[in-house]
Amino acid sequence: MKTAITEMFGIKHPIIQGGMHYVGFAELAAAVSNAGGLGIITGLTQKTASDLGEEIARCKDMTSAPIGVNLTFLPTLSPPDYPAYVKEIIKGGIKVVETAGRNPAQVMPHLKDAGIKVIHKCTSVRHALKAQEIGCDAVSVDGFECGGHPGEDDIPNMILLPRAADELEIPFVSSGGQVDGRSLVASLAMGAEGMNMGTRFIATKEAPVHQNVKNAIVSASELDTRLVMRPLRNTERVLANASTERLLEKEKTLGADLKFEDIVGEVAGVYPKIMIDGEMDAGVWSCGMAAGLINDIPTCKELIDRIMSEAEGIIKQQFGSVTE
Ligand SMILES: Cc1cc2nc3c(=O)[nH]c(=O)nc-3n(C[C@H](O)[C@H](O)[C@H](O)COP(=O)(O)O)c2cc1C
Repeated sequence: MKTAITEMFGIKHPIIQGGMHYVGFAELAAAVSNAGGLGIITGLTQKTASDLGEEIARCKDMTSAPIGVNLTFLPTLSPPDYPAYVKEIIKGGIKVVETAGRNPAQVMPHLKDAGIKVIHKCTSVRHALKAQEIGCDAVSVDGFECGGHPGEDDIPNMILLPRAADELEIPFVSSGGQVDGRSLVASLAMGAEGMNMGTRFIATKEAPVHQNVKNAIVSASELDTRLVMRPLRNTERVLANASTERLLEKEKTLGADLKFEDIVGEVAGVYPKIMIDGEMDAGVWSCGMAAGLINDIPTCKELIDRIMSEAEGIIKQQFGSVTE
């Protein structure tokens, strides 16, 4: 399938694996890229910029296909050394960067001077337009369904994607709730040029996370995610577990007085315990409503091949017959 996104990134299929903290290591990015999608290493999971350089090199040993790096701009008082991370990205010969979180304007000149394509992930049309204005090449439009940070507007993709299509000039992919060939065809119908998946790629053979995490996704239904940290305007969609319920109880009790310090135990530094050690109640962790549509743990190649053949089947057979 050829779209503006496959052409822009030099990939075979219009499928991107979004950056994911403690999931987006070299193994997963390489597996997705080897299967014809765009695999993405999560920059800030690497503790230092030079660690990121080594992770990029490790990934390049596993694939010669294009790979990307995610740079997330967090709302924090002591930001990571972004210029150093960007230097390693350029040194590593990376040609695609997925930015997310706050406005990536500070890194744009460096990335553009190095000929890197930038796809900014955002949760509203106004932020997508801002990304277009500051020179991003594409955007990932992340709907309310998504795992991670859906923003504060709560607009699902059925509305958000056609709204983006009506306003944007640069190409965009859908993100949030995407899992299969139906998702891809629906995204294309709503004006997207491909799709970005997070939760779906965690439940794959190559995702370098504990088996408990994959099993939790397969067991979960679409009713099993919760929104946390809304009172802090840092809303995150996570899987329901003991930590999630404790955090929500604190939100209820403390109301407008809730501060980040009150929930440190549930959110800070928990990812290694969950993703690596498989301690499923160690804290809250991002997971999308898409979990309700995930019932197996295929390889990335099996998953992507299945999505593409299902999408082509829908377009050629199902749509072909309804228009007869
Ligand atoms: C466990 C997990 C960790 C994530 N970490 C990040 C991150 O560090 N940076 C980022 O930009 N997005 C992050 N995301 C969001 C994904 O890149 C993607 O946008 C999102 O998962 C799409 O929604 P879906 O899960 O319904 O496919 C994360 C998502 C999950 C599930």
